[in-house]
Amino acid sequence: MATHTVLQITDLHLKTPRAATMLGINTEAFFLQTLRHALDAHPRCDLLLLTGDLAQDPCQEVYLRIRQHLEKTGLPCLCLPGNHDDFELMQQNLSGGQIVCERTFQLGAWSIIVLHSQQADSQTGTLAQAELQFLRETLEHNAHRPTLIAVHHHCIATGSPWMDSMQIDNSAAFLQLLAEYPQVKLVTCGHVHQEFARKFGTISLFGTPSSCFQFAPQSHQYALDNLPPGYRLFSLVDDGTFATECRRVPLDMRDLDPKAPGY
Ligand SMILES: [Fe+2]
Repeated sequence: MATHTVLQITDLHLKTPRAATMLGINTEAFFLQTLRHALDAHPRCDLLLLTGDLAQDPCQEVYLRIRQHLEKTGLPCLCLPGNHDDFELMQQNLSGGQIVCERTFQLGAWSIIVLHSQQADSQTGTLAQAELQFLRETLEHNAHRPTLIAVHHHCIATGSPWMDSMQIDNSAAFLQLLAEYPQVKLVTCGHVHQEFARKFGTISLFGTPSSCFQFAPQSHQYALDNLPPGYRLFSLVDDGTFATECRRVPLDMRDLDPKAPGY
């Protein structure tokens, strides 16, 4: 049975100029080391899935730099926007060749559906009525394909109230819709900068560490964790089963400034 390897890398938060740091670390250097670590460990990767907050400073220069880095991998890359991104600039400067910002992607028997959850001038997620309609229609047309949903914001509480105030504000409607379609196997998100796994009925819900700094789990207020960057590996089997795990990249976190505001 064919198995497809997907590497999810998320929340790169690249800045301009290239040497700029965020919370004490150079996010571009961390992204590159995360990418290298992931590809060294999984050279037969079928898809790189980048789930938002690719840019902290969304501008042409940043997206072109990300494009250069991704092009060097020679791998298909599926990119979606987070609350810090500018989707129009992503389409203009990042998309092209093997790098796509599409809403659907087929990988063997699997269907990947990309949802956009960002809303203007807000860090909180939402799924507009048009997104839910697109989701329903796509699920109707792909009833026999096991499905992975990729979206930037989380749709279930992580246990950190400050973070959960930013989750998809109509998560209940979203999850109820998914529950109508048994082909939906899992939802994976960025945004939370930490590893988590929950279940909603038969559907698995995952959060993935950032390629730069991490947020402390189960924290009432904003707080950083000193765990190193990470990424998530998915092995998607054509019979609809899957396996997943997070991997950490052994990077030196001594420069992380836990007192700095500004996320
Ligand atoms: Fe982020």
